[in-house]
Amino acid sequence: MDIRVLQPSDIPHVQLANITNLPENYFCKYYLYHALSWPQLSYVAVDLSHSSGSPPKIVGYVLAKMEEEPTDGVQHGHITSLSVMRTHRRLGLAEKLMRQSQKAMVEAFGAKYVSLHVRVSNKAALHLYRDTLQFKVNKVEGRYYADGENAYSMRKDLTFLE
Ligand code: ACO
Repeated sequence: MDIRVLQPSDIPHVQLANITNLPENYFCKYYLYHALSWPQLSYVAVDLSHSSGSPPKIVGYVLAKMEEEPTDGVQHGHITSLSVMRTHRRLGLAEKLMRQSQKAMVEAFGAKYVSLHVRVSNKAALHLYRDTLQFKVNKVEGRYYADGENAYSMRKDLTFLE
């Protein structure tokens, strides 16, 4: 399994993984915007064992950016989307993708913290963010999602990585 930076040619595969794993989906140009504006921040997990003759398979991704106009005036990163295909879960891939992105946020852009939104019912992602990666709940955003579900707005301090 290889973790590497997202390239524009990966986008159709990442879009397929996103549609398969999450109800929050995006136009191709939004992925491209991430890849071109902050090329250091988004990563893919590639299953190399799949590549006997066929192209390596993208089995996970993290799509990340810097907040362009932070309301608090503090440089910070944001996780737009993260998912891993069912066949490749509980192997540590999401944790690795997140840690790579967080490191790059600090090294390339001097990010002081990273933020994200997650459904209050998303137990697996909450475990990952809160218990494994030490994110903290910043606030609850009511009816954040299109279907009316609330989101936890979460943050992780990155100043210790400086
Ligand atoms: N139940 C409980 N805890 C879990 C679970 C689970 N099903 N899956 C992961 N975790 C937690 C555990 O703490 C785990 O540590 P452990 O294995 O030592 O117990 C830790 O996360 C790290 O697990 P990984 O193997 O790195 O996680 P994985 O690669 O399986 O991916 C993910 C986790 C991304 C949440 C995956 O389940 C998934 O793709 N889910 C559907 C899409 C999704 O919910 N994405 C996040 C939406 S929020 C956003 O995009 C900003």
